[in-house]
Amino acid sequence: MTATPILEVVGVTKAFTQDGLTALALKGVSLSVSQGEFVSIVGRSGSGKSTFLSVLSTLLKPDAGQLNYQGRDLARASEAEINAIRHGDFAVIFQFHYLLPYLTALENTLLPFMRGLKPVTRAQKARAMQSLERVGLADKAHRLPGQLSGGEQQRVAIARALVKDARILFADEPTGSLDSATGGTVMELLKGIHGDGLSVVMVTHNEEYARLGDRVVRMEDGLVV
Ligand SMILES: Nc1ncnc2c1ncn2[C@@H]1O[C@H](COP(=O)(O)OP(=O)(O)OP(=O)(O)O)[C@@H](O)[C@H]1O
Ligand SMILES: [Mg+2]
Repeated sequence: MTATPILEVVGVTKAFTQDGLTALALKGVSLSVSQGEFVSIVGRSGSGKSTFLSVLSTLLKPDAGQLNYQGRDLARASEAEINAIRHGDFAVIFQFHYLLPYLTALENTLLPFMRGLKPVTRAQKARAMQSLERVGLADKAHRLPGQLSGGEQQRVAIARALVKDARILFADEPTGSLDSATGGTVMELLKGIHGDGLSVVMVTHNEEYARLGDRVVRMEDGLVV
C-alpha cells in the first residue's frame, strides 16, 4: 500500500540537560504518517513517547532531523510559519485537559479563536457549538468544568482541539486520567473523529486502545523498534 504521507519524520534526536547531565530522549526516530491514518504509539514510561509527540506537534524543537509537512521541514521553519501550522492544521490534547476552570465549556472551546483583543464572532460561536455537539455536549455548553465529569471535561478539550478544522490530531494519553468506561467513550469519539477524515497520532499505555488504530508503533529507550 502506498499512501501519501501527511507528516514524515526522519532521524529526529532530542537531548535534555538536567543538573549538568545530558540524556538523549530521542536517538534518531523516523516515522511516516499517512493521510487519514491513525497511528498509536506505545512503550514503557520514559521511552520518549511524549517527547516524540511534542516534536511531531511542533511544541518542541528537535536537535537534529527533519519534520516534513506539506513540502516544508518544520524543524527548520520560522516561528511564524510553525505557529500558523500549529494553530491551523494541528490539534493537540493531553492526559490532563487544561480547561480554564472559570470559563464555561463553550468559552473553553472558543479559546483557539481568542487571539489579541478581538471579540469572537457569531460564526466562531456557532462553530464552537458545533464542535461541542460533535462530542455530545451541546446541552452542557454553559457549565463550568467543575460541573462536568472527568470524561466530559476531556471531551470539551477535544471539542476545543477540533474547533479549527485541524488535519492532524495529536493525543498524549488522552484516556490516562479516566476510568475505563469513560476512557472507552473518549476512544470511541477519537475513532469517530478519525472516521471523519482526520489523521490521528496517539500515545497510550493501553494496548487495547492502541489496537484501535491502523498501526501500532513501539518505542524503546528513545528509538522506534
Ligand atoms: N523537560 C525535560 N527535561 C529533562 N528531561 C526530560 C524532559 N522531558 C523528558 N525528559 C526525559 O526524557 C526521557 C523521555 O521522556 P518522555 O516524557 O518522552 O517519556 P514517556 O515515554 O512519555 O514516558 P511516560 O510513559 O512516563 O509518559 C525520560 O528519561 C525523561 O526523564
Ligand atoms: Mg509521556
